[in-house]
Amino acid sequence: MNETAKNSLGILLLNGPSSAGKSTLAAHLRDRLEAAGIPSAVVSIDDHMALAEGERIYEDDVYEIMPGMCGAIGQALRRGEAVIVDHVITSERIYGLLLEAAAGHPLRKVLVRCSPEILRERELRRGDRHIGSAEESARYLFPREGYDLIVDSGTQTPEQAAAAITASFFGGACGRWFLMKEMRQDSSTVAWNALGDEWLELARTGESRLCFIMPHMLEYMGDVQGQKILDLGCGEGGYSRELAKRGARLVSVDCSAKAIGYAAALAEEEGLSIEHLVRNSGDLFDIAAERFDVVLCSMMLMDCEDFDGTLREAYRVLKPGGRLFASVLHPCFDGNKETGIGRQGLGDERCAVVMNYFEPKVWEAPLNKGTIPVIWRHRTLEDYVKAFLRAGFTIVDLNEPRATEEQARSSTALSFLRRIPLYLYWQLKK
Ligand SMILES: C[S@@+](CC[C@H](N)C(=O)[O-])C[C@H]1O[C@@H](n2cnc3c(N)ncnc32)[C@H](O)[C@@H]1O
Repeated sequence: MNETAKNSLGILLLNGPSSAGKSTLAAHLRDRLEAAGIPSAVVSIDDHMALAEGERIYEDDVYEIMPGMCGAIGQALRRGEAVIVDHVITSERIYGLLLEAAAGHPLRKVLVRCSPEILRERELRRGDRHIGSAEESARYLFPREGYDLIVDSGTQTPEQAAAAITASFFGGACGRWFLMKEMRQDSSTVAWNALGDEWLELARTGESRLCFIMPHMLEYMGDVQGQKILDLGCGEGGYSRELAKRGARLVSVDCSAKAIGYAAALAEEEGLSIEHLVRNSGDLFDIAAERFDVVLCSMMLMDCEDFDGTLREAYRVLKPGGRLFASVLHPCFDGNKETGIGRQGLGDERCAVVMNYFEPKVWEAPLNKGTIPVIWRHRTLEDYVKAFLRAGFTIVDLNEPRATEEQARSSTALSFLRRIPLYLYWQLKK
């Protein structure tokens, strides 16, 4: 490998149909990278194609401009810049030329897509393209799969998509470039990534989360002024934003790039400085050991496949004496509704019934009020305690919060929590 390739910041390919919003996204990405001190260049198909208004684009035309685009990519790489390639690749031979230009350099591939209706509407609105080009390019887009990340410009703003990309590949606000390392995927990261918008919507509106689980955790954590906190499995980022407002310094991690993009954009909107990273909780690569006073795992420890790995990583990144605060579904009163642990009766008659405390351990079902299946896991009390001890933690406290009278009056779901603890909170110490 030559010196340029060895020190290369690499290439980020944004591939997708025309009118999918790649140019806007590329500009946002370049701004984010430049702001983080990473020199970068955008090489765009639009700058290499001289198109008359309404002219149809053929594959041959794109193939012909590839030597020019590849030359520009090579120049930027030699200047030591990160290269964002904004392209509409519709054949194997065009893709082959890009791969040749990228040979020896890290290459990450992002598919930028949106619904056909949105493509059509944007094409009409911009008015300078042959009508139908966008849908045609979507039909022939190459490659069809194998992308490191998919962003949907119909449901993600350019800010959210750019934040998701930088948090996936570039290390977010810490301004370093992680093109070389990919997040380790497992069953939980795949399932939660597939949930996307549905989880964000449920999180924004979920009564138990907003009125019970979250306020209790924030109170449990106490004064966080000046503390360095890792919000592990941060989801839409509500805890991180609140903790940042209370004076803590936050790093927010989640395996879902969509959730991270959403969380990062909201934090920016609110003027909060929070570092966002897309990581598997079982492999927090590039997060230094002993960096945090607190690790927060809100309602995520029961989800992750690599439970021991997650606890090991949480332990590693905590300072000596640092605390892990965790909330989980209470394993004695929640589980698989069909054969494990479920509910009987309605309203004040409602009971928790235990059919099988030990099984099943793993199953697929949508979240409450959701439609897309996610992987659920059941860990017994013993599983939790033994895993905490194996990782080296000391158990400082365990909490089974009850709803207050006022909460109970506000809804039947919360009044149930005066009788049965559906959530279990832990405080552990390194
Ligand atoms: C129930 S949500 C909780 C989100 C947030 N902590 C809250 O309480 O609002 C679980 C979160 O954990 C994340 N998650 C699940 N498995 C993970 C893993 N292995 N690594 C990182 N994040 C994970 C999911 O993407 C999801 O955002």
